[in-house]
Amino acid sequence: MKEQKVIISHDLQAELREAIDEVGPDRLFVLTDEKTREACWPVISDFGCIRGCGADGHLLPRGEACVMSIGVSDEAKNLDSLASVWKTLSQGGATRHSMLVNLGGGMVTDLGGFAASTFKRGIAYVNIPTTLLAMVDASVGGKTGINFLGLKNEIGVFNPARAVVLDTQFLRTLDTQNVRSGYAEMLKHGLISEESNLAELLRFDLDRPDYDQLKELVAKSVAIKEHIVAEDPYEKGIRKALNLGHTVGHAFESLALAEGRPVLHGYAVAWGLVCELYLSVVRCGFPTTWLRQVSRFIFETYGRFAFDCRVYDRLYELMTHDKKNVAGVINFTLLGAVGDIHINQSASKEEILEMLDFYREG
Ligand code: GLY
Repeated sequence: MKEQKVIISHDLQAELREAIDEVGPDRLFVLTDEKTREACWPVISDFGCIRGCGADGHLLPRGEACVMSIGVSDEAKNLDSLASVWKTLSQGGATRHSMLVNLGGGMVTDLGGFAASTFKRGIAYVNIPTTLLAMVDASVGGKTGINFLGLKNEIGVFNPARAVVLDTQFLRTLDTQNVRSGYAEMLKHGLISEESNLAELLRFDLDRPDYDQLKELVAKSVAIKEHIVAEDPYEKGIRKALNLGHTVGHAFESLALAEGRPVLHGYAVAWGLVCELYLSVVRCGFPTTWLRQVSRFIFETYGRFAFDCRVYDRLYELMTHDKKNVAGVINFTLLGAVGDIHINQSASKEEILEMLDFYREG
């Protein structure tokens, strides 16, 4: 996979200018969602005169950016939105030498990355993530795609952005739930790296964030992900470490959605981490002291997703449908210690049900 440049921003406009100049596109397009267009686009709009080129698009003179928006929620990560981006590119005169800048959360960077990767067999794109989740996870590592037939990220390709510019200034206006949601992926990165990283994350005060410290934590977190992706870009082996917490997390997320009480992805991942650390203790000897510390932090920060034993079979069933499974066997990434990663692990149904007991009562 091509190299992806990740820039921790000091001067967003200058760094974006540089990322664009490195490619030297003939035409520039910007994808945002309706919320980001209002809140974040003004921060970078200086680099060219802004012209909206909608469905009636027109050829753009050099130096001008064509800005387009899609809906805000994950539901907009669909074929219709994708087609609207392709259409705007096409009618706006995009060529194989044009470039797309994705400004937004994971939905925008995933969909925009896929649109760019497939338009005329691939044009260059740059990600400017505006949520913590997108900064530390979605925008980095080259996974792009859309949801299809109710399945998340069902269609997509691995294709990295030319550059990812991370400006943590955007976090100052991000709501606390979305900060917490992204922070769950940072906890995961702490768990798969070093005890000192994890301890630092558990000390951080999310109620009164020190944004300078958060910027440093984000930089460390992204470096952990980059290192793993560089070793295994196509998720054949060690990249599966990034799935820690997600097998159970996705089951919680799906159950919550089906019961009409949707939760943010990171909340489900945080609860999934508690469960999978319990399994790590049982299956791989993960230290119980860390299990206790991480669980306490997670329950204090994210609360506890409430369910009773009547939905155990449903949750188990949801785990058996996880797309990471092989031959119907539930695939877990577990830990023997902080940073001691065991991929492709299984567990018995009894162990999984005990894990759910622990989660509810532990
Ligand atoms: N979100 C996990 C990965 O990028 O592999």
